Amino acid sequence: MALTILQQIEETVKAIRLKYAASPKVGIVLGSGLGNLTSEITIEKEIAYTDIPHFPVSTVEGHGGKLIFGTLSGQQVVILSGRFHYYEGYTPAQVVFPIRVLKFLGVDTLLLSNAAGGMNAGFRVGDLMIINDHISMFIVNPLLGKNDSELGPRFPDMSEPYDKALIKAAKGVAAGLGIPVHEGVYAGVTGPTFETRAEYRLLHIAGGDAVGMSTVQEVIAARHMGVSVFAISVITDLGIREEENIITHEEVLQAAAAAEPKLTALFKGIIAGL
Ligand code: HPA
Repeated sequence: MALTILQQIEETVKAIRLKYAASPKVGIVLGSGLGNLTSEITIEKEIAYTDIPHFPVSTVEGHGGKLIFGTLSGQQVVILSGRFHYYEGYTPAQVVFPIRVLKFLGVDTLLLSNAAGGMNAGFRVGDLMIINDHISMFIVNPLLGKNDSELGPRFPDMSEPYDKALIKAAKGVAAGLGIPVHEGVYAGVTGPTFETRAEYRLLHIAGGDAVGMSTVQEVIAARHMGVSVFAISVITDLGIREEENIITHEEVLQAAAAAEPKLTALFKGIIAGL
C-alpha cells in the first residue's frame, strides 16, 4: 500500500536524523536569486535533496537543491536551499512536503523570501515588502483531500497567517538598519506565465500589493501545523506600469540579486532576535 504523507514524513525525518541529530527551531526558505544568505551560515551539515527519501528534486534555474543545517546569528537554523513550485509540475503535496518535514524536525518558526511583481503604485523595483496577508484563491490549496489530523485541523484558521510579533520585530530590525520596508498583501498565482496587464489590474483591485508564484502553499501548510511564519517579497518588476512592460526571468533574478544584501541583513537581524 502507498505510504500516507505522515508515513513519508516519518521515513524522511528518520533518514535525515541518521545524518544530522540536532533540532533547529528556525527554518528558512529563500526565493529565486535570493540564496546568498546561505553563505553567511556556519554550516554543520548539508544534505542534497537527491539523498533524501521522498524529497522532490528542484529544477528551476537559481535554485540549489539541498538541506543546510548550521548556525546563523547565534541560532541553529535549517535552510531549504531550493524550493518547489507548483508550475514545475509538482503536486501541491510535493510542494509543501519539505515544509512538513521541517516541522517534524523541530522547526516552529519559518522565514520565507520570494521575488514578486509589484502592483502597489508606491513600490519600486528593489523594494522589500513584508507580507502581512495573502490571497490564495488563484493557487491550488495544498490541504485539499483527506486531512491528516496529526498534521493539523481539517479547517485551519487563516485570519493571521503571518505572525504579528515577527512582523513587528522585522520592522524594528529594518528601522535599525536603515532599510526601508513596505508591508502588504501577496497574491499567489500558479505561473509560469507572468500576468497579463488585465490580470495585474485584477489582482491589484482584489487587494494584492505584490504577486508571485511561490510561498502561499508553503505558508498554508506551515500554518496548518501551527508553525509561525514570516515572509518577505523582493519587488523585482512592476506589473502595473502602463508603458512598455515586458517581464523576463532574467530581469527578476537580476533585481533579486541587487536587493539581496538588504534582505540578508534583515534576515540576520530577525534571526538574532528570535
Ligand atoms: N508575477 C508573478 N510572479 C513573479 C513576478 C510577477 O510579476 N515577479 C516575480 N515573480
